[in-house]
Amino acid sequence: MAESATTVKRSDFVAQLEASNLHPLWDRFRTLTPVKPQAKDPPLIWRWRDIEPFAERAGSEVPIDDVERRALILVNPAFDGETVTTSNLIAAFTVLDPGDRARPHRHTFAAIRFATRAEGAATIVNDRRCDMHDGDLILTPPMCWHGHINESDHRIIWFDAANIPLIRTLDANFFEPGDQKSNQFWQADEGDEKLWAESGMIGADLPHATAHSPKYHYSGAATRRLLATLPAGPDGARTVRYTNPATGGAVMPALDCYAVRLAKDRATRPKRTTCNSICLVVSGTGRSTVGEHTFQWSQHDVFSIPHWSWASHAATGGDADLFIVSDRVAFERLELLREEYQ
Ligand SMILES: [Fe+2]
Repeated sequence: MAESATTVKRSDFVAQLEASNLHPLWDRFRTLTPVKPQAKDPPLIWRWRDIEPFAERAGSEVPIDDVERRALILVNPAFDGETVTTSNLIAAFTVLDPGDRARPHRHTFAAIRFATRAEGAATIVNDRRCDMHDGDLILTPPMCWHGHINESDHRIIWFDAANIPLIRTLDANFFEPGDQKSNQFWQADEGDEKLWAESGMIGADLPHATAHSPKYHYSGAATRRLLATLPAGPDGARTVRYTNPATGGAVMPALDCYAVRLAKDRATRPKRTTCNSICLVVSGTGRSTVGEHTFQWSQHDVFSIPHWSWASHAATGGDADLFIVSDRVAFERLELLREEYQ
């Protein structure tokens, strides 16, 4: 059918507007104001059995002195080759061989590491040595100096996550390398971390910044004790939120962490939320349905829950534990958090 004179005239007008760096709202408001969020990525699972051989190769073939960090980042191809795991977040596994030191640095993006096979490693954060034991969570908040060292006799692999894609979108990253040759950085002991070791008590006169948690090291053993005692929440799972002990809020301004215990064969109530999550299987086996996809998972597999996707989880062997890192607090602070149960 031939174009009408009105259509031609309108498109000619739009072309003239575009040539003048003007866009007509009426021509594109559906794109600019979608009726609901639409994640770019489908959910994806990265299986430990596929990652592990590459992690071992990275340990053998990539000298730590040649790289800032020896990490393998989990990438969803839906992001067109960008280094993104799900919106706003990346997850990775880092490999450190005996004697390796990952040089100190600091940056404005927020990061965490979760000790999967890290017994004998230490992360030093702002002059505090955090020895890494099974299931420990270590924060490296924005602009805190941090480096890693493996003083064991075996290869170490841990899980990392960071909000690099969010900070890149905002173009707000600053990065400062530390002194690679300085030995002083590595001499730290536990230091002021001791001030934040006792649950429910803080020094009344301690100055502390509230932007991020003054506590950097969260014990895996303590997490497991609490998970064993907690009642189930509204979705049927037992959930721990890691918090800033000075505020009770999230551990960092734009990165939020949770531990979840799933009971055998009891699927959680499907939930969807505007924030994005990455789940690390800490222990056990199970099944998750995220959007249209169902994944069977086992220890150290990682899967994503893109925003506004219905998600439900169940353990299949016995109890199963997940560690979840998300951008939930960023949505909370922007008053964009919306969560629903089916
Ligand atoms: Fe870092």
